[in-house]
Amino acid sequence: MNVTDALHTRISVRAFKSDAVPEALVREIVDVARWAPSGGNVQPWRVIAVAGAEKDALITLAKANLPGDEGDRPIYPPDLWEPHRSRRFKVGEDMYSILGIPRENKAARLMQMARNFEFFGAPCALFFVIDRRMGHGQWAHLGMLMQSIALAAWERGVASCMQEAWARMRTPLHAHFGLGETEMVYCGMALGYADDAAPINTLRSDRAEVDEITEFKGFGS
Ligand SMILES: Cc1cc2nc3c(=O)[nH]c(=O)nc-3n(C[C@H](O)[C@H](O)[C@H](O)COP(=O)(O)O)c2cc1C
Repeated sequence: MNVTDALHTRISVRAFKSDAVPEALVREIVDVARWAPSGGNVQPWRVIAVAGAEKDALITLAKANLPGDEGDRPIYPPDLWEPHRSRRFKVGEDMYSILGIPRENKAARLMQMARNFEFFGAPCALFFVIDRRMGHGQWAHLGMLMQSIALAAWERGVASCMQEAWARMRTPLHAHFGLGETEMVYCGMALGYADDAAPINTLRSDRAEVDEITEFKGFGS
């Protein structure tokens, strides 16, 4: 698989088979992805990988702490503006439409959201830890590691779903993982083998066109 194919075919998978991802494979994925760049090569990240009973303990932790809260680093800015607001709305509506859950059925939508806290059935998950003292630049660099992990995993047939939903569990996760005083969990990532029979995995998100997001200057075309 080349990089272009990986970028085009990686999707967020939200239903996994129970088949385990061996530790050696997770290690290999992180070993490849750790070559992601970061400003000043500070590598402002730490990864916690969980499987088996450790993963199950997190599901129990989340259930005991629902709905949780996003604390001082909200997942989205308040009153998200256009065009971002509509994009967010569309991918959500597309997902619920595949699942046949209408807008009025808030309980079913919440139950689907809560599947995040079961890692969508994945056998394995990663948590990305950053030091609170890091600035917005370093948060962006952590994203490079995450995308690198998602692509390196996908190259090996391992699907993923990044899960900022776990931001709602930052306080209990901090205690559970025994993080340092200035450390925090940014995001989770479910890892495993996609359940190709699950309707939710037919969701395909779209993207703004090149000309909508890029200004070309001085090329003389
Ligand atoms: C940092 C990050 C956090 C995300 N958190 C969640 C999440 O908590 N739950 C979820 O179902 N999807 C989550 N997603 C998946 C996005 O909704 C998804 O990437 C986007 O809709 C584009 O779809 P695609 O990944 O299938 O291309 C997250 C994605 C990113 C990059």
